[in-house]
Amino acid sequence: MLYIGVDLGTSSVKMLLMEGNGTIQKVVNREYDLHFPNPGWSEQHPEDWWNAVCDGMEELLSGCDKSQVAGISFGGQMHGLVILDEHDQVIRPAILWNDGRTTEETDYLNQVIGKDKLSEYTANIAFAGFTAPKILWVKNKEPENFAKINKIMLPKDYLAYLLSGTFCTDVSDASGMLLMDVKNKCWSKEMMDICDVKREQLADIYESYEVVGTLKPALAEKFGLSKDVKIVAGAGDNAAAAIGTGTVGDGKCNISIGTSGTVFISSKEFGVDENNALHAFAHADGNYHLMGCMLSAGSCNKWWLEEIIDTEDFAKEQAPITKLGENHVFFLPYLMGERSPHNDANARGTFTGLSLDSSRTDMTQAVLEGVAFAIRDSFEVAKALGIPIERSKISGGGAKSPLWKKIFANVLNIKIDVIVTEEGPGYGGAILAAVACGEYASVEEAANKLVQIVETIEPEPELAAKYEAQYQKFKKIYPALKGVFSELV
Ligand code: XUL
Repeated sequence: MLYIGVDLGTSSVKMLLMEGNGTIQKVVNREYDLHFPNPGWSEQHPEDWWNAVCDGMEELLSGCDKSQVAGISFGGQMHGLVILDEHDQVIRPAILWNDGRTTEETDYLNQVIGKDKLSEYTANIAFAGFTAPKILWVKNKEPENFAKINKIMLPKDYLAYLLSGTFCTDVSDASGMLLMDVKNKCWSKEMMDICDVKREQLADIYESYEVVGTLKPALAEKFGLSKDVKIVAGAGDNAAAAIGTGTVGDGKCNISIGTSGTVFISSKEFGVDENNALHAFAHADGNYHLMGCMLSAGSCNKWWLEEIIDTEDFAKEQAPITKLGENHVFFLPYLMGERSPHNDANARGTFTGLSLDSSRTDMTQAVLEGVAFAIRDSFEVAKALGIPIERSKISGGGAKSPLWKKIFANVLNIKIDVIVTEEGPGYGGAILAAVACGEYASVEEAANKLVQIVETIEPEPELAAKYEAQYQKFKKIYPALKGVFSELV
């Protein structure tokens, strides 16, 4: 049978067609716009996602035996607020995971309601990009829109709703709303009261590998598929990427370098970082995970190369980088503020240490290194919790650069395992669909059977030592500038 994995990303939707044995037949990509109506704000039109999916589906399915398609599932950008009115019309553009407008609401939740209470109700504290502060923002700043809300959804759940008609979400994505009691995988009554949200405005919660419905007959006809195609709940993109890289079960790690950058640690037991610097979320394999998320990772590289120095040839720009571990230029990658571990929506990007002999190459290198140092910040939090991480998988667009992978291995001083497919969330989505359709007994079994390591990048002791010294310098830059950032807003 065939399975479709839909990776609803921030810059594009990537759709993938997978055979039951894990072979990828085809991947198609459709881009859409990202809107920044104010500095630090980030929005998209849910209709653009839907149009991109419909458009991509035709190309994805052309030439395949459509009668073999058995299931569709998702990995979706997390935390985004999609609100529908009583006629199922989108009320306003979706407010995305990297949107920093909710400083006031986040402060209210963390300081007035209190971090201890939030952590007790949800296992997490408020971060600007989470969904609950956005709901409060709509309530405070757009009361006329708040009054119209009939359904509150996450981005990929909007697709599942249009495809199947089922108002659903999954445990991993719902974890990032700050409305779910993560340990017990149910909506928190207390959080609903705090956010003035009613139970019927929220979806039913499924495990990521559960069937939520079947393809609507009209869509089945449009795509040329059977109306028995199963729509499967799917997962937040990081949990889906973790499935797609075999990061399941206990103590495994995946680093994802997409628009955001994340460190994802799977766990069989529910556990909370007592400082709440790492998110404590449910995993798509039925268990739990801890995660650190930086808001701008691959996007820093894309911004620097495409917007600033005006090139699309990333490999050519990276080719002259030879002096690893010796750069005098440092880059803070906080282009959209920062989530883990600083939780500071006002933080901004900077180059530090420039001199007249600094070159374009030094700055390109500093961007790659700045992202790796910021990922190391989350790693340090995990290490401080006593979690031993000796190796990690890597996925996302950033995983395509051999140089960046080498920088990660040495900045983190761990082995980096490279897998056959870097299509993390889309592959994970397709695997979830295959499990739901009975192709595998469990997510863990599927991931263990399907994911293969093709190369391991070992850290080099001399280079890792140089990067250790560089990281110690990097760590001092944000605290020195924190006060300035808050005055710049
Ligand atoms: C995770 C997060 C991002 C988005 C990116 O908490 O906000 O990784 O899911 O799509």
